[in-house]
Amino acid sequence: MAIRNILDGEDSILYKKSRPVELFDARLGILLDDMTETMRKAEGVGLAAVQVGILRRCCVIDTGRGVVELINPEIVRESGKQEEQEGCLSFPGEYGVTRRPAKVTIRAQDRYGSWRMHQGEGLLARAFCHEIDHMNGIVFKDRVPGRKIYRK
Ligand code: NI
Repeated sequence: MAIRNILDGEDSILYKKSRPVELFDARLGILLDDMTETMRKAEGVGLAAVQVGILRRCCVIDTGRGVVELINPEIVRESGKQEEQEGCLSFPGEYGVTRRPAKVTIRAQDRYGSWRMHQGEGLLARAFCHEIDHMNGIVFKDRVPGRKIYRK
């Protein structure tokens, strides 16, 4: 496994839409393993492939209950609302309060191409939305009303 370079918010790639993953090969497995290692080292909750310069629709998420790999994820259902502080590994030290659904159900492929359903509440629901946004070229700041960003 290898640590990959995380692009920062200045990089225009972050604002591009990612294409679906079509090949479920060893190279995808290496990318996902590298992304997990990179996320862990940076102490993040999630990392999308676009953040390491790969415009493909996949991400890794770990909210403390083990790594979830999502390939070509789609939101199936969402309900409720939450407003919580959010940040992003591409914007170190910057935070803002976003509005997200409280509960989210998604479908996504695993690294072998099988479709699975995932349900998330709270932080996990936010992470699903945050990472799927990345795949569409949207960053968390776009979800902060009035773009009220603070640093700490
Ligand atoms: Ni992010």
